[in-house]
Amino acid sequence: MTMTTEHPVLQLAVLVGSLRAQSYSRKIAKALAARAPDSLRCRFIEIGELPLYNEDLDGGTPPAAWSAFRAAIRECDAVLFVTPEYNRSIPGCLKNALDVGSRPPGKSVFKGLPAGVVSVSPSKIGAFGSNQALRQTFVFLDMPVMQQPEAYIGNAAELLDDNGAVKNVDTAAFLEDFIEALEKWIRTVRPGSSAFDAFMKQREKIAEDYVNGNATSLKAIVTHSEPATFFSPRGDHLEGADVVAGRYERDAASFHQGGSTDLEVLQASASGELAFWTGLQHAKARIGKNGQPAEMTLRVTEVFRLEDGGFKLVHRHADPANG
Ligand SMILES: Cc1cc2nc3c(=O)[nH]c(=O)nc-3n(C[C@H](O)[C@H](O)[C@H](O)COP(=O)(O)O)c2cc1C
Repeated sequence: MTMTTEHPVLQLAVLVGSLRAQSYSRKIAKALAARAPDSLRCRFIEIGELPLYNEDLDGGTPPAAWSAFRAAIRECDAVLFVTPEYNRSIPGCLKNALDVGSRPPGKSVFKGLPAGVVSVSPSKIGAFGSNQALRQTFVFLDMPVMQQPEAYIGNAAELLDDNGAVKNVDTAAFLEDFIEALEKWIRTVRPGSSAFDAFMKQREKIAEDYVNGNATSLKAIVTHSEPATFFSPRGDHLEGADVVAGRYERDAASFHQGGSTDLEVLQASASGELAFWTGLQHAKARIGKNGQPAEMTLRVTEVFRLEDGGFKLVHRHADPANG
């Protein structure tokens, strides 16, 4: 993992609201991605295979395609929507993707993510209706959307050549300006979109591995330098990098597959070599010899130090919050 705290690369999810192979919208999305600065990495996340949203399927283990989609959006800092208009609104596939990402309640992967909208149509009015309909959903999804420049790409068939490249110089320049403005917007809305924010997303996945009995990913972010400390939920505390690393590995072995965890970050910050988060860790785990289900909430503080260009865990303090 390479980290620079000054100019972190932003991950931009790109969702295309058309499933057809020769989609003008996808071609415009590719043209935008090709013009994105190096500091904005575009990641096309496919929505065509998402089963239609059905609350009944979200109770237990949700469809794998939903989980993969939600995880992919969670890894991103912002979302760019490039969409046609169907019957003066957004296509069903895109609405379905929004619905899937927005649930279960309280766990929307879209919440707070800055957004950009480009609507595309072979007709003149540039899919104005779908552009505005999409903006309406952002209110409820709590997604701050870039207001200007607006992008209504009309006459799409004439703007693109047979290879999907933008022929019109003005359109090409407009797309370049749009994607640059979007990067500025993302950085304005999320000044904290820093290397540590990106790392914290990784931290949450590592915590999930851990409560499933797998300490491998945690091992990669645990320091091997002194000082290192761990204040465990059992009330004891350990000092020394090797001792602490060994303990994490042993503790992970007491968990079985089938666990899940959420980090509720109350505060997090990074400055120079150091970073921390503090908050609650909610976990559902299967523990002990028989994989007995257990639910726990821990009050957690973790401190990280930049070592060899990556954040390493140097201190963890976890107390049971529910006695
Ligand atoms: C079900 C359906 C509804 C459509 N409704 C509209 C519409 O309201 N406004 C519009 O400009 N084009 C409409 N169109 C035409 C689309 O703009 C056109 O098919 C376009 O190529 C779709 O975008 P794509 O090229 O990215 O697939 C509609 C097409 C379909 C299939």
